[in-house]
Amino acid sequence: MRTSTTFLVLLFSATVCAGADDADVDRRVAALLTRMTLTEKVGQLVQINRQTGGVPDALKERLRQGRIGSMLNEITPATSQEIQRITVTESRLGIPLLMGRDVIHGYRTIFPIPLGQAAAWDADLVKKAAAVAAEEAAGAGFQWTFAPMMDIARDPRWGRIAEGFGEDPHLASLLAAAMVRGFQGDDLASPKSIAACAKHFAGYGAAEGGRDYDTAHIPEGLLRDVYLPPFKAAVDAGAATFMTSFNEINGVPSSASEFLLRRVLRDEWGFKGFVVSDWESMSEMIDHGFAKDLQDVAVKSIRAGVDMEMQSPAYADHLEALVKRGVVAEKLVDDAVRNVLRIKFRLGLFDTRKGFAAALPGPPSPAALALARTAATKSVVLLKNDGKVLPLDRKVRSVAVIGPLADDPYEVLGTWNRDGQIEDTVTPLAAIRSLLGSADRVRHAPGVPYSRSRDKAGIAEAVEASRQSDVAVLFVGEEAILSGEAHSLAYLGLAGAQKDLVEAVESTGKPLVLVVLAGRPLTLGDLFAKADAVLYAWHPGTMTGPALADLLFGVETPSGKLPVTFPKAEGQIPVYYAHKNTGRPPTKRKLTLIDDIPLRARQSSLGDAARYLDIGYEPLYPFGYGLSYTTFTYANLRVATPRLKATESLRVTVDLTNSGDREGEEIAQLYVRDVVGSLTRPVKELKGFQKVRLRAGETRTLAFDVPAASLGFHDQAMRYVVEPGEFRVWVGGDSRSGPEAGFEVTE
Ligand code: BGC
Repeated sequence: MRTSTTFLVLLFSATVCAGADDADVDRRVAALLTRMTLTEKVGQLVQINRQTGGVPDALKERLRQGRIGSMLNEITPATSQEIQRITVTESRLGIPLLMGRDVIHGYRTIFPIPLGQAAAWDADLVKKAAAVAAEEAAGAGFQWTFAPMMDIARDPRWGRIAEGFGEDPHLASLLAAAMVRGFQGDDLASPKSIAACAKHFAGYGAAEGGRDYDTAHIPEGLLRDVYLPPFKAAVDAGAATFMTSFNEINGVPSSASEFLLRRVLRDEWGFKGFVVSDWESMSEMIDHGFAKDLQDVAVKSIRAGVDMEMQSPAYADHLEALVKRGVVAEKLVDDAVRNVLRIKFRLGLFDTRKGFAAALPGPPSPAALALARTAATKSVVLLKNDGKVLPLDRKVRSVAVIGPLADDPYEVLGTWNRDGQIEDTVTPLAAIRSLLGSADRVRHAPGVPYSRSRDKAGIAEAVEASRQSDVAVLFVGEEAILSGEAHSLAYLGLAGAQKDLVEAVESTGKPLVLVVLAGRPLTLGDLFAKADAVLYAWHPGTMTGPALADLLFGVETPSGKLPVTFPKAEGQIPVYYAHKNTGRPPTKRKLTLIDDIPLRARQSSLGDAARYLDIGYEPLYPFGYGLSYTTFTYANLRVATPRLKATESLRVTVDLTNSGDREGEEIAQLYVRDVVGSLTRPVKELKGFQKVRLRAGETRTLAFDVPAASLGFHDQAMRYVVEPGEFRVWVGGDSRSGPEAGFEVTE
């Protein structure tokens, strides 16, 4: 038997070529395709899941016959290598397998959940984190990740909101493209790169009621203006693969949508990679009521443009026979195989990844940990800081560190942590002890044992610890399992007895700092009101503790901004900043709220507007919101281009001043409104932002250049248009504030 490091070289030495260009790849694909039997072609379109545990004979046989093109989840390096060896040396054509895994926000080094990364509004950071994840995953034998997820989400009940970049298409597009570039590097064939997968195409985040997998009704204009832009950005960034979504949109499951997969993705965007279905999303079309059996599934998906089937067996069991019977044209299969092989060549599976050497990674490198610490620090959002209780004085006599998430090394890693190890995690308790340099000044009491627990027995101890300390810091929120796939919630308050814990600690009268660790926005307005300060930290990953300790004690200053609107109550959902104005916008009217309604009031005496009688119309915190330990002031908004053509760029300047007493970083956000449209336009849309670090007292003039071409939308005929007329523009620290000016787009 040849050694694993040489067998690929021997088999493919004739075709080795470094830095293969597209034409060369196409030639190699064409040459290989002519040698393939129909069975082998269909094999390239089949992906199976692996439960580790050796290589059973039946699997060996399928590999030798070339009936499998890809696997997901094989995590034992030796088995992974053996599987590749059999495939490459014992199958007729020796086409390597593509090994995939969900590397969502880190492999061994866990970075903040993607929603947390989005709160840093920092594309470069996202790219660097993905590059670390790629290198670690590639070393373990994977060449493909099922990320980034770029589903726009405007409903925090949906558990998968944790996995995406929030509610806004502009922010999500930039971050999706950055993550693709981070995973794929400059050269996909580098043994440190892995192929990205833009998912879930499309509309998955628009599930009715926030229930995962549920139906999406999205008018085409909204789809094109809001839900599709991040996917287009991923194509432009070179994403190698796409994954269809589980849901149906407007009656058609994505895994059979010719509109999405052929018209939009291939014809309009020129995508050259391949499309994989989501896990059994093809066979689930039977449950959707869109296909009658697996044969029907195979026909509909191959015609729509799904190149590879994940997990379900429609292609494996039926595609060959369907071609032989003339039901499916062999050309459709050839096209799909070409798409898959093209990526296999571009990834260097035939060339640079010799032997597929794989090993489980050791602990994170110091550089990876430093980056994870920066990413975690920058993802945290300061929501409240009354009386400047934060930052805490490092000379503080004693701190009570309370709450179920204060010392839990697992839950803070968040959803989709498959390969991170709890021994790598530094918890808040450990980091605070280390920062203060003395364990004696820290009193620890979890209060409740885990986030969902209703056990109140430990609350008395937490109250006592708070009484004896100068300040209480409470780490509350959600365990990792409460967000993520299939984990939607109807109630977004604190689970278990955590609310009782917060109230009990508050009753001590000690300064109270809440640190919320969660996979989604929670509706905690009543508890925030009891706290002096609130840090919203999402699930920050391996370096949770050091990042939070640095922020709490002022080694670092918070700079995160919300990538998603925080509702006051579940009943307010969906609530997002880029909503329409309606004919009765609440802002202009005086409105009576429920407690002030006189008895026997007559209808219409209260002011009629699009709002709720009980909670009004404002969210708890708007999109883009986030405080700092210093303050920032915006002034002198000037439009240098008050009249511009659709082919020109809008130029806006504003003076940003650090008006507080310490250095800090601000994310200045530019929003526009198209005042009158042939279709009504949102009240505000983010079109640019800048992250700026300023010393105390420093003023800087920021200049924004926004191509007028980015100010358009899809009209009733589904043409992308920038309509002439009046626009408003704002630059501010969130989507509700900042000076305003106007400009006009001319004919
Ligand atoms: C998820 C995908 C994931 C796939 C493979 C599915 O259930 O929806 O996002 O990539 O499983 O693990």
